[in-house]
Order: sequence, then structure tokens, then C-alpha cells
Amino acid sequence: MHRRASQALVGNGARVYKRASRIGGIMSFRHRHLLGIEPLSPAEITTVLDLAERYVALNRAPDKRSDRLKGLTQVNMFFENSTRTQASFEIAGKRLGADVMNMAMQASSIRKGETLIDTALTLNAMHPDLLVVRHPHSGAVNLLAEKVNCAVLNAGDGRHEHPTQALLDALTIRREKGRLHRLTIAICGDIAHSRVARSNILLLGKMENRVRLVGPPTLMPAEVGALGVEVTHDMRAGLEGADVVMMLRLQKERMDGGFIPSEREYYHRWGLDAEKLAHAREDAIVMHPGPMNRGVEIDGTIADDINRSVIQEQVEMGVAVRMAAMDLLARNPRANTGREGMYV
Ligand code: NCD
Repeated sequence: MHRRASQALVGNGARVYKRASRIGGIMSFRHRHLLGIEPLSPAEITTVLDLAERYVALNRAPDKRSDRLKGLTQVNMFFENSTRTQASFEIAGKRLGADVMNMAMQASSIRKGETLIDTALTLNAMHPDLLVVRHPHSGAVNLLAEKVNCAVLNAGDGRHEHPTQALLDALTIRREKGRLHRLTIAICGDIAHSRVARSNILLLGKMENRVRLVGPPTLMPAEVGALGVEVTHDMRAGLEGADVVMMLRLQKERMDGGFIPSEREYYHRWGLDAEKLAHAREDAIVMHPGPMNRGVEIDGTIADDINRSVIQEQVEMGVAVRMAAMDLLARNPRANTGREGMYV
């Protein structure tokens, strides 16, 4: 069935959410921070997605304001360039009524030699409630979270994790496919350098899906054997029977040369074009976290094909998922925000 036609039939999270709220469901999300997918249970993942469904509806309404985070201060600290993720977190915070501040870390004291910890402590003294951090080093966000009193959200650390990306991908898949289990998902391309791949592998595995990694051997992580996934270097075999085709950006900035023969050769063997996509299921959806290298990992026509590509929907779901994540963290009794209570 065609993607758009199938949409009307899917029993997506909206229905699940209503059921939960009808019985006055207590949402189970007992973490102080959102640093990765690793510590989350399947129930907690579902909680975030169900709440995000409510925010999808709010974001589509003429009046998009809520006061869930009213009076709270959200600080976005991006130590790495970002357009979409930073904008998404900023819009999410503003829609929930938080005071949002963006710190331009490239231009900050870090340049003058201040350590990450000093920056964190200085900021902490100003009593922020939510700290959204992106950093080029794996583990830096976890370290920072140990030093501050507020809730920390990881917006991507090195090759480690990018939890809100995996959650927004999961919400997109659940809405498109009507479920988030027993699907065959091919994650393709530069797996080794990708925090998006890592967080997605963890999340999709927890929700009992079949995950296949597809890409050149040079771009597979060393620990691939321990991930509980299938691995293939052949794109056509990897896409065979896939419900979801998740493409990744070639992370040139994290490569020091020698990983791929040439971009042309890479596109020929691992770039997603119509011929290779024909090996996936007829109703397979195509995803990409952005930013895309058109003509390197994906053919531009496929990226723009509204019958196959859900790339714009991923962006939309990103705002809703970030609203849900910040809302849940602010409700946490351990967060010093005065918004105790896990009731929806
Ligand atoms: C991803 C990231 O930064 O890890 N992008 C994003 O969050 N918008 C993926 C990427 O950069 O390739």
C-alpha cells in the first residue's frame, strides 16, 4: 500500500495516549537527565512518544502556546555547529513558555581556555532549569551533567548518543507504520561516526525490531559484533524486505581520510537511488536525520519524493519530541523546578 494511503489506517500513538490518560495514567519517566537511550526502558520510550503525540497536535494548532515550562530557564549550549537541532530545541522551549537562551559557545570563554567544567559551574550559578548541550567529544555531556543541579539534555555528543534524534525517528516510524516493533530497519552508510546510528540501534533493539547495518567495512564501528544487529556490506541485500530505510550523512568532519574510495564510488555502491530502493518493501519509508549530502548518500529525487521520504516529518516530530522530553524532565520530582507530579 502506498505510504499516504496507509496513513489513515494506522493506529498511531494518539490512540495509545488517549487510553493512558483515560485511566489517569501515571507517566513513568524517572530520570533526572536525558543523556542517552541506553538507560531508558521500553515503557519510558513509549511515555515520551505518547506525550509527544499530544504536542504534535498542539504544534499544528493556530495557537501553539503552552505554559508547561513557564518561569523556567532553558539554556542551549552548542559547542558544535548546528542549525536544525538548535532551532528545534529553541522552538520547543518557547512553545512551552520557557525563557530560552542560546549561548554561542564558539565565541565564548572556551576559546579563552576555560574548561568545560568551569563553564558549567558558572552557568549553574545562574540557576538554569534545563540545559541542552551538544559537544564534539563523546562523554562530555555526561561529565557536565554530574556538575550541575539542573536537568541536562544531550543534543549530540561526539559519536556517542543523540537521544532526541532517535526518539523523533521512533515517533516518525510509529506514526507511519502503526507500530514500533517487529519491523525490519536498515540503517545505511557511515555507522562508525554516527551518534544517530548508535542511539537508533539501542532504541530499535529495545523495542524488538530487526536492525540491519549496511555500509562499507571501513565505516562499521569496531564493536559491531556486540550490538545485536545484522551487518552487510551489500546495499541491495541489506535493503531486501526492509520496512524502513534510514540513511546517514557521510561525516566528513570526523574522518581523517582513507575511509571511502571517492564520493562518486561511494554513491555508486551505497548511495540510495531508485534501483536500490526497489529491493526494500514496496511501502518502505526513507529517512535521513539531515543535513543531507545529495548525490553522495542519497539521490535528491528520492529525498524529495513525498510517497517515500519522511524527512520533513522527522523535522516536525523533532519539535514535538523535544517538547515532551523537556516537559517530562521538568516534572521530575528530583528536578528543582516546583513542577512535581508525573500525572498527565
Ligand atoms: C545529526 C547529528 O548532528 O548528529 N544531525 C542532526 O542532529 N541534525 C546527523 C548528522 O550530523 O549527520
